[in-house]
Amino acid sequence: VYYEHPMEVEFSSDGPFGTFDRQQLQRGYQVYKEVCAACHSLRHVAFRDLGQLGYTEAQVKAEAATWSVPAVDPNTGEATTQPGSPTDYFPSPYANDVAASAANGGKIPPDLSLITKARHDGGAYVHSLLVGYEEQPAELLERFPDAKSPVGTYYNPYFPALNIGMPPPLTTDGQVTYADGTEPTIDQMSEDVSAFLIWTAEPTLEKRHQTGWAVLGFLLFATILAYLAKKQVWSAVK
Ligand code: HEM
Repeated sequence: VYYEHPMEVEFSSDGPFGTFDRQQLQRGYQVYKEVCAACHSLRHVAFRDLGQLGYTEAQVKAEAATWSVPAVDPNTGEATTQPGSPTDYFPSPYANDVAASAANGGKIPPDLSLITKARHDGGAYVHSLLVGYEEQPAELLERFPDAKSPVGTYYNPYFPALNIGMPPPLTTDGQVTYADGTEPTIDQMSEDVSAFLIWTAEPTLEKRHQTGWAVLGFLLFATILAYLAKKQVWSAVK
């Protein structure tokens, strides 16, 4: 195997006590919007879901309106677009897979809604992929001359096929400007968008963690009760 296991990355949502860092999710959303959305859809997420990132209802409404979503002209019946509203889902940047493939050298940028569930160590994988581009190692080329990255693909040791059809999307520090003053280094933007994609794939993660603890608490209580009841019931038997 020549591809690398994802890097060690810590996310606040990790572990049984993990919770989302809403500031970070907002930054990650910004990276998605300003960088990734040019090629990747997020079709399982609706604008109203952004309310969970800490935006107010008015902010969600205003944010939705900055996107344009497909619509049908009521007079002509022709396809057109209109500003998004909270109930709309994130639009796809391409009309269909054929257009997506034509625009990306034959590769289709996958929908990112569930990508962190679809790949092993999803959050860390996305981060590794984004910061992992490098020159093809000479030693690899010596051993396998045919492995040279085909035109239009880029060597990335974290991508199982090694040569990915996605040009490095995060290339310069300061590619986005964060409202909360966080320094937008490539690493930071990458971790933020990865955290955001962990959220899109499992927005109910915090509830699952909380429920798990409540269930364990209940089981402990029930176990103690059962033990005491058993002692009571059998107390007369020597
Ligand atoms: C593939 C993330 C920006 C084009 C992918 C994959 C991920 C990803 C996770 C899937 C890799 C896999 O299948 O395991 C992102 C993120 C971006 C971003 C987080 C923003 C920071 C872009 C942009 C473009 C693009 C701007 C277009 C210029 C593609 C293409 C593929 C791809 C064509 C398919 C590659 C292949 O199958 O060889 N991206 N992407 N991506 N992305 Fe992006």
